Amino acid sequence: MENFTFYSPTFFAFGKDTENEAGDYVKRFGGSKVLIHYGGGSVVRSGLLDRVKASIEKAGLSYVELGGVKPNPRSGLVYEGIALAKKENVDFVLAVGGGSVIDSSKAIAMGTLYDGDFWDFYSGKPIERALPVGTVLTIAAAGSEGSGDSVITKEEGMFKRGTGSDLIRPKFSILNPALTQTLPPYQTAAGITDIMAHLHERYLTNTKEVEVTDRMIEGLLLTMIHEGPRVIEDPNNYEARANIMWAGMMAHNNSCGVGRSQDWNSHEIEHELSALYDCAHGAGLAVTMPAVFRYVYQHDVMRFAKLAVRVWGCQMDYDHPEVTALAGIRSLEIFLKDIGMPGSFAEIGGKEEDIPKLVEALCYGNGRTGSISGFVTLNEEDCAKIYRMMI
Ligand code: NZQ
Ligand code: ZN
Repeated sequence: MENFTFYSPTFFAFGKDTENEAGDYVKRFGGSKVLIHYGGGSVVRSGLLDRVKASIEKAGLSYVELGGVKPNPRSGLVYEGIALAKKENVDFVLAVGGGSVIDSSKAIAMGTLYDGDFWDFYSGKPIERALPVGTVLTIAAAGSEGSGDSVITKEEGMFKRGTGSDLIRPKFSILNPALTQTLPPYQTAAGITDIMAHLHERYLTNTKEVEVTDRMIEGLLLTMIHEGPRVIEDPNNYEARANIMWAGMMAHNNSCGVGRSQDWNSHEIEHELSALYDCAHGAGLAVTMPAVFRYVYQHDVMRFAKLAVRVWGCQMDYDHPEVTALAGIRSLEIFLKDIGMPGSFAEIGGKEEDIPKLVEALCYGNGRTGSISGFVTLNEEDCAKIYRMMI
């Protein structure tokens, strides 16, 4: 295991009706003038936004609001949010929604206390200050409710890039699984896929002897394999929703990733797909992961075989471990298809003729120098082959 530091100071309130305490938590974590940030309307339709506002008012706090965050959140609304927060002297940003709303809120939180262009932080500048952020989560997926990460798409060039710091980890996150019962099945499945991707990106490591985090990841993957189909079959299954919601947080606050190198190539390759085609991030990952894994599994056949045996229940073939490794990848592919995720490039709007453009943006966009690194380093030729495998 490698040396590490781990600081994850988010306060979690989990369970039914917890959104009604949002105002108290904002107050507890120092907010007095709140920017309530939300998405395209689901929280308005469900009545959640009104309940959150009532709770803010009850706590004696004032607020301004900004809706309209799109999935794969854009820089344009972030600039608008920063201008509003500065003008109104906002001292706390409250995200009410999914990963896109939370990431946009984090971007506004850092941009409000910065005189330059907030995109600097998505181009490598370290974050030094940010307003506190709180969240009321409505979809189990991105894990942004417990992570120090934010992913934004810059409209000029359509680059989708991430940044990270403990300074933008939410001060508190409210997780009520019942709020996820209104999700369309496709979004529920995309969330399940994203959670499983966050676990795979950490499982694919070059660090030896990391049994504790290996076992945590395997346990969370087994949970997703058990609960995923149950919630697709019955969207109102609160207990399944609850297990998935907490697994989503655990998968990405990095408690499973400490002390080990991690991959993230599937995410990098997918981000170009959701930037260009505006597909759901999880749907893009359903197409990307099997292709990436088949391309790289020979780098460490036994790691893939171990995952296949421990998580997918495959029989170990000691003479031909690559057969076991490939059987595990196939099991993942079948699982994702069964919960309703796409399995090919065309299903997410992908076109073969776009591959050079995708590779260019992936390997050279926003200051990159020709490759992406993770479990294995992939150059532009590798990435082009992987995109072709998705066809
Ligand atoms: O905008 P509204 O109307 O709210 O609709 C949303 C949106 O259309 C809808 N939705 C959310 N909760 C709902 C609901 N509909 C009905 N009932 C509810 N309870 O679902 C759609 C997707 O929402 P979004 O926030 O985009 O989903 P998700 O949480 O999957 O976030 C995806 C974004 O997070 C980024 C992704 O790249 C993508 O941009 N990621 C962020 C990470 C992080 N910050 O740590 C890590 C991830 O790997 C990921 O890259
Ligand atoms: Zn993800």
